[in-house]
Amino acid sequence: MSGQASHRTTVPDIKARKSVGKIVMLTACDAPTARMADDAGADIILVGDSLAMVCLGHETTLSVTMDEMIHHAKAVKRARPRALVIGDMPYLSYHLSVEEAVRNAGRFVAQAGCGGVKIEGGRKRLRTIEAILGAEIPVMGHLGLTPQSYHVMGGFRVQARTAEAAEALVREAQLLAACGVFSIVLEGVPAEVAQIVTAEVPVPTIGIGAGPHCDGQVLVTHDVLGLSGSEPPRFVRRYADLASAATLALGSFAEDVRGGRFPSEAESYHLPQGAAEELRMRIRAVLGEVPEAPGNRWRS
Ligand code: KIV
Repeated sequence: MSGQASHRTTVPDIKARKSVGKIVMLTACDAPTARMADDAGADIILVGDSLAMVCLGHETTLSVTMDEMIHHAKAVKRARPRALVIGDMPYLSYHLSVEEAVRNAGRFVAQAGCGGVKIEGGRKRLRTIEAILGAEIPVMGHLGLTPQSYHVMGGFRVQARTAEAAEALVREAQLLAACGVFSIVLEGVPAEVAQIVTAEVPVPTIGIGAGPHCDGQVLVTHDVLGLSGSEPPRFVRRYADLASAATLALGSFAEDVRGGRFPSEAESYHLPQGAAEELRMRIRAVLGEVPEAPGNRWRS
């Protein structure tokens, strides 16, 4: 629980953490994962659209809908975390019009209780981000490997690998910061590039696959816990293999059921003394009217 504020973490708290310690962000998609991330001391819980892959079984993040994101964000907020909860704007929730983007961002705040939203992209999202900020909704930016650009990037590929592309990324980050985002996720970029961006923008950067120099780090909780069901990317550090532990536990349950060892006496409810016999007598009296009733479960 180290480093955790005793009050709910706010956007100004996060902005004040620029170059002060390291910000910890984890994803959550339901109340249990939110509780675990919060108890572990996360500063920010992101209801990331990666839940499309780690919870819903999709191949990319592109298939998750706004309604599904709200459903998961509400579950996360029901855990009443102290961490700042940010809703991730899914694919097509902010691409069609500025008005629709503001409405969808507003749903994360008004319906789910999030403290802000995250949007992928730089320069081409500025008008949208300005409008969302105009609706008093804090915005977290997201640059570099933006998973919603999967098809344009030709897969999940490290970005900004040339001097030209790196310079463009620095400019995009500066534009986002000038526009008013309160932090920027840098995903899948060389550590040197993330270091320069971090030095050049006045808001905290939060890295994922972006080296150690960012103001904070984020990982997908299911990857950290070994629950994502596939080999994680190389930037993930897996701290547990809960999928194996869970499969073993569930296997033991299955064996106990099949072997008649579950449930035990202690795991069963019983009628009070005498009541069982009385019940049998009553049932017999009733069933006496239909002596050969098939499937009579009450005969002793
Ligand atoms: O959806 C997500 O989990 C994310 C993080 C990886 C930043 O966008």
